[in-house]
Order: sequence, then structure tokens, then C-alpha cells
Amino acid sequence: MDATTKEKIVALNKEIALCANRKDLTEATTLFKKAKENGWCNSHTYSGIINTNIRCGNISNAISLFEELKCSKQKGLRIDVITCTTIMKGYTSIGDIKSCLELIKHMMNQNPKVLPNIRTINTFLRGCVFTGNIEQADKMILNMNKYYKVIPDVSSWEYYVTLLCQGLKLDKVYPILGRLKNDNSMLFGLGAMYLALARALSLTGDIKGCKKALKSVNETLLKEEELDKVDDRNEDDIDGGDDIITKSKVVSGGKRAWKSSHSIDDNKRSQSLELFREHKRAEMRSEIDNINKFIDSLNEKSLGINTLLPYYLKVLSIPPSLAATTQVTASNKTFIKSNFVKQLVNGIKDKFGLTYSLTQIRDESTNNILKQLEDMLENSINDEGHIDVNRVFSNNNSNKLEICSGGGEWAVNQASNDKSSNWITLELRHDRVYQTFTRSIYAGLNNLLVLGGDAMDIIPNHIPSQSMDNIFVNHPEPPQQIGGVDSEGKHLLTNNFFEETTRIMKINGLITIVTDNSWYAKFLMRQLSPIIRSIGLISVNLQRNKSNKNDKNNNTEWEIYDSDEAINVYVGKPGVECGHVIDASSYFDRLWKRGKIVDRYFILLKKTTHSTGKIHTLSSTKVSSSSDKVEPSESTSRMSMKRNKKLLEGIIDIDTKQQNKKIKFD
Ligand SMILES: C[S@@+](CC[C@H](N)C(=O)[O-])C[C@H]1O[C@@H](n2cnc3c(N)ncnc32)[C@H](O)[C@@H]1O
Repeated sequence: MDATTKEKIVALNKEIALCANRKDLTEATTLFKKAKENGWCNSHTYSGIINTNIRCGNISNAISLFEELKCSKQKGLRIDVITCTTIMKGYTSIGDIKSCLELIKHMMNQNPKVLPNIRTINTFLRGCVFTGNIEQADKMILNMNKYYKVIPDVSSWEYYVTLLCQGLKLDKVYPILGRLKNDNSMLFGLGAMYLALARALSLTGDIKGCKKALKSVNETLLKEEELDKVDDRNEDDIDGGDDIITKSKVVSGGKRAWKSSHSIDDNKRSQSLELFREHKRAEMRSEIDNINKFIDSLNEKSLGINTLLPYYLKVLSIPPSLAATTQVTASNKTFIKSNFVKQLVNGIKDKFGLTYSLTQIRDESTNNILKQLEDMLENSINDEGHIDVNRVFSNNNSNKLEICSGGGEWAVNQASNDKSSNWITLELRHDRVYQTFTRSIYAGLNNLLVLGGDAMDIIPNHIPSQSMDNIFVNHPEPPQQIGGVDSEGKHLLTNNFFEETTRIMKINGLITIVTDNSWYAKFLMRQLSPIIRSIGLISVNLQRNKSNKNDKNNNTEWEIYDSDEAINVYVGKPGVECGHVIDASSYFDRLWKRGKIVDRYFILLKKTTHSTGKIHTLSSTKVSSSSDKVEPSESTSRMSMKRNKKLLEGIIDIDTKQQNKKIKFD
């Protein structure tokens, strides 16, 4: 191959990599086809196209491409550690740890072997954190050096220790921390590890140990801040903008050297990272305060299973619907309730520390507790797998669900101020579900049910029709973080999502979506407009109640930002009229504010039996009352819209400024 062709191949691979960044699957696919036609494909080309598919949420396509690479007969074209790590990222994004394990086996069966490297291992461990799989993380840490000759780095330890602490397996944590605490290269993960330990000790009731661990977190954060001034960070460890951000190269290189050799884009990225790290430390300090308050509130008697039991009865890590809860025969699938209940109980035991808690009590009490748990689940779940929330709480209160609830802070705040309602959080990532679980304990809540799993699996399969009074989505992930109309990233809030959420809403129930991203708010408006009436929703036309200015619930901190024939997008603060009981913040709310993105956009929709096609008028002091009248308003004739690029062209320019400010995380 001549030098010019080589250059062309390198350039093309770079182009595909850039497509992955901006989630432009069409362009990436065209470039990939071109590479194939010219016989230019190498493992970088495959890695690029697989990565683009994963970033656009097209995992099945990514898997097919990886299979194609595996079977390729082209000379020199074979899987390597980069392509394998890339596809592993895809598997972990859908929580498929089994496929990760099969992949590693396949890598080791190659001749010559494709050895996993530290990135492969950390991708795997991160998958374990996302799914709460302590057992597999345990095995990996034990075997990684022996079989793959890879030594755990600070990220590996942070993932592992976090998981062990969640399972309250503290006998394994102490020796690890003992070994790592004087190792400088571990500094940027130690704070998070001590914090995980403090959280665990607060639950086991070891107040003295907890205080000591909190002190270590504080000390580590101070050291981290010092070192941060000369640190060169590995941004690949940042995902989704939060939590497990760990650093393997503590003082190698130095930020100044890094900056000088990189472009303006790199500098921007570096600023984003700085901002992100600051945010992470601030969040950790705020958690230290929470834990301190909590342990101070405990009296002499330590926290035991009896105190934790009510919380174990209100946390469910729901397995994907096809995983062992259904029996698949040639002709149909049958839901098997007993399998489902068993999996839920195992989830609480393994992922939330119940197994450890049970070891602290006598055998007969253990059986009693497990029986209570099983009875509650048997009672609250019907033969189709639907969870009756009112049975879980044994009351007839209103049910209010936050989807994509992250670490649960917003919902915990709402629930604390709305004790006469049942609040439910629903979140995909186990680490965030676990955070919600502990927050609920710290806040002493008895009106919060914490659900873990994929909303698009749980809502259709496990939430009964007409059971929710309010649904909230705060800061949903847009199909893109930056970029324009070419972005083809998947996002949760599709029409299918709205159909499903409408089904589970009671008549007159409200759905409130809040985003920091004006582009996305408009995107949703245009996506929903043509179908809103047909699925039984209307957009609520908020009104200021002038006669009632002194009413603290009469929120006037909003205005209409944009509207079409069917939907209003508001800018400002959603208040009680939107179901927000109090003004509360969340992790992402604060993250964006830190990045100077302060405006909030919201859409408020109401379920109605009669699809009048009118935008509904609701007084700002009322929350979803059945006596609301439907006011005549603008015509809501179906917009005849051309989808995708054409549809979005009109809104892209307005938001360029905002998007430029936005921190890029993925
Ligand atoms: C940008 S974060 C917002 C979190 C939180 N609402 C906040 O404001 O801090 C979006 C959250 O949605 C979760 N998520 C994404 N897809 C989901 C799905 N299919 N089911 C449940 N949660 C999902 C992500 O894990 C993430 O925690």
C-alpha cells in the first residue's frame, strides 16, 4: 500500500471517529461503506463505526458489525483489544454483563490471544457498577493479574470498593484501603472510596468508623485539590457527567504541558473537566454533610436490620423482563411471578446489603424478614407482573413517579415535603439507584419507592394502567450533547415513551418535563405535536392568577418560551401547578448551573379522556383537579411536519450559543 493511500485511510478513520463524537450515524455509515468498497477497512475503521453505533444507541447494529469483523477473511483484519473494548462498552450500556464475559473468553481463545488491557477491564468493572454486579467484579479483580497480566489501577479499585461497600462487604474493603492509602497514584479515587465506606458504615451503625472515614474523605479532597493544579487527567473515565471519575495518571505530564501542546478545543475540554471535578468535589462535600447529619441523629443504639427493613421493603432492582422471569416456549412467553419475586429478593440481598444485614441477626428472625419481603412482593405484584404501588405502601394516596431520577435527590426532597403522597423513582443505573436508597434512609422517608431498571422495560411490563397521578422527567438526556441536526443519537422521550407514560397516568394526571436544553425542549414540542391529541394528552396552558398574588403557591416565575398549535414550552421555574411541591435541585441541575447554564425549560402535559384537541387552561394555583375546565384555545390541527432534519432546521440556530456553553459528557 502506498503512502498516499495510507494517509487517506488514516484521514477516513479520523472522520468516522468525529462522526461518533457528533452522533452522525448516516455519515459514518457512508464513510464505512466507502472504506469497504476500497478495501481500506482496518480495525480502527471497525472500532470507529462500532463506536458511532453505540453512541447513537444502536447496539444491535454495533454487535452485527463486530460479528462481521470476527468472521472477516480479509488479510490482517481481525479483532483487537480496541475493537473488543469498544463493543464491551456497548454491552455494558445495556447492562449485558454475560456478553462481556463471553467476549473476554472469545478474546482469550484467539490465536494469538487478544489480551484485555486496563481499559477493557475498567469498562467491564464500570458495567458491574452500572448493574450492581458485585460477584463478577469480585471475580475480575481476583483474576485480572493472573490471567490477563493487568494490574488494577485507581479506577478499578474505585469501582470495586464502591460495589463492595454497597453490598456491605466491609471485611474486604478495609485491607484494600489499608494498602492504597499511602499510594500517591490512588489519590484521585481514595476520596470516593472513603465516602463509599462512610456510607456503608452509617448504615451498619458504626458511627465511630463512619466519622473516621468522613475525616479521611475530607483530607483526601484537600490533597486532591492541591494536586489538581498539576494534574493531567484521563477524560475517558468521565461518563454521563458524574460520579465515578477517577484518575490513573496523578502527576504524570502536568496540565500545563498538556495544554500547550493541544488545540483550543482541547483547552475547552480541559476547562470542562476542571469544572466537572470541582462539581464532583462539591457534591461529595455535600454528601459528607448529609451523612454527618444522619449519624448525629442516631441515638446510642446502632442502626440495625429493624431500622433498615422498611427501606429494604421499598427498593426494587427490576431485572430485564426477559431475564428468567419469563418462560419462553416455541409459541409464546409466559410471565412467571415466582421467578420474578425471587429475582427481586435476590436483588435486595445482593445489591443493597440485605445479605450482610441478615448475618447480624438470629436464624429465625432472618426467615421472618425474608418472609415479610416475599409476602409484600407477592401481595403487590399481580400475575402479569404489574406492581401495585398502593399495595406496596398499603394506602390509597396519590402516586408520583420521577423517571430518570439519577441519584434521587430531587424526588427525596419532594417526598420529604409531600408526606401524603407516594413517591416513586425510576432509574437505570444501579449506582444512582443505590444513592437514592441511601438518601431515602438519611431523610427518614416512608413514602418513597425506589425502582431500578430501564424505564422502557419497566413501564410497559410492570406499571399498571391509570396508576400515576404525576410523572416527572428532570433533565432527560437529549439525543446529543453538542452538534446539530445531523445528530442521530437515541433518546428516551420518543412517541412510544409518551404513549406508555400516558397509559399509566390517571385521567387528569400531569407529566412535567424539565430540561436545561432549549433545543431539546423545542425538539420535544415538535416531535409530540402531531400525536399529542391522539394519545390523549393536552398541553396545559398555564395562567397567572392575578387575584392571588400573595399566595406563595402562585408561581409566576415562568413565561412562554415557544409554542406551536398544540404545545407550549415554558422558560422559568415549574411550580406547584406542575406538581413540583417545592423548588428543589438535582445533581445535573447544579452541574449545568455551574457551567453557567441557568435557564430551565419545561413542558406540562395533562391526560384527558376527551381528546378535544385544545390546549387546556389550568389556574396556576390548582394541581390536576378533575373540575378543571377545558378552555377554547388556538386550533390544534395536526401539524403537517417533515420529520428529522427539515423539522429541526428552524430551531438549531437559536441554540448554538447555549450548546457552545455546554459541557460535553457522554
Ligand atoms: C441527565 S441524567 C438526570 C438525572 C436527574 N434527573 C438529575 O436531574 O440529576 C439522566 C438520567 O436518566 C437515566 N436514564 C437514561 N435512560 C434511562 C432509561 N431507559 N430508564 C431509566 N433511566 C434512564 C440515566 O441513567 C441518568 O441518570
